[in-house]
Amino acid sequence: MSTQKIIRRNTVPQIAARKGGDPIVSLTSYHAHTAAIVDKYADFILVGDSLGMVMHGMESTVGVPLDLMIMHGRAVVKGTKKALIVVDMPFGTYEESPNIAFRNAARIMKETGCGAVKLEGGARMAETIRFLTERGIPVMAHIGLTPQSSHVMGGFKTQGRDEDSWPQHEADAKAVTDAGAFAIVLEGMVEPLAARITKQIAIPTIGIGASADCDGQILVLEDMLGLSPWTPKFVKVYGDLGAQIEKAVASYAEEVKDRSFPGEDEVYR
Ligand code: KIV
Repeated sequence: MSTQKIIRRNTVPQIAARKGGDPIVSLTSYHAHTAAIVDKYADFILVGDSLGMVMHGMESTVGVPLDLMIMHGRAVVKGTKKALIVVDMPFGTYEESPNIAFRNAARIMKETGCGAVKLEGGARMAETIRFLTERGIPVMAHIGLTPQSSHVMGGFKTQGRDEDSWPQHEADAKAVTDAGAFAIVLEGMVEPLAARITKQIAIPTIGIGASADCDGQILVLEDMLGLSPWTPKFVKVYGDLGAQIEKAVASYAEEVKDRSFPGEDEVYR
């Protein structure tokens, strides 16, 4: 008799069907315990390559290795029951060819148990998105400010400030939709452009520093918890975990130094 545990997670078609419906709630998570908390509220959880900067002190996401994404992806899948888990494909693992993208995306899916991958880029990635989706790998697209291209973009800059650039962003959104992406992240994009794209395409748009009119929103968990030393201007901070951690660590250090740290009788329950 099979003892396999059946886990009913949100599926890719369920997220895609939320276009124009109830707003989609999503956050990043890189870690089993925080993911378990986020899982109670999020429709999908992104194991974003922002983990390179947030967890590993990197200056950008460019240096994030595939194995690191897989390790964190596996932890988040283990810690959750309900949310669809989407894992980012890191820089250098998908741009070269659809075949290479498939090989690496398949590794992510097999080794983490996630339900979809995300990759950055618009029209230039359409062929790859089609190749992956036709072969069983659901893809979330990501356009606008694409951090993996920050060296070409000259930093982390809001996109679409110049209205002349709007047709290119709109064409990118249409290309990834036509190629089979099930949802699309619009990052760092002026509000009216994100709202226009949301109206134009048939898949859910997930905004981050974009527009309240998007079909859903995503934030980096550590940013909204007040744990990141720096956060982009658009991030609303809902907690002050950085200050709380510091207070707890300072109390502990004080107790150790003045020998008031509890003994075995008090500590072990
Ligand atoms: O890596 C990440 O966290 C992301 C989100 C900002 C969308 O791609």
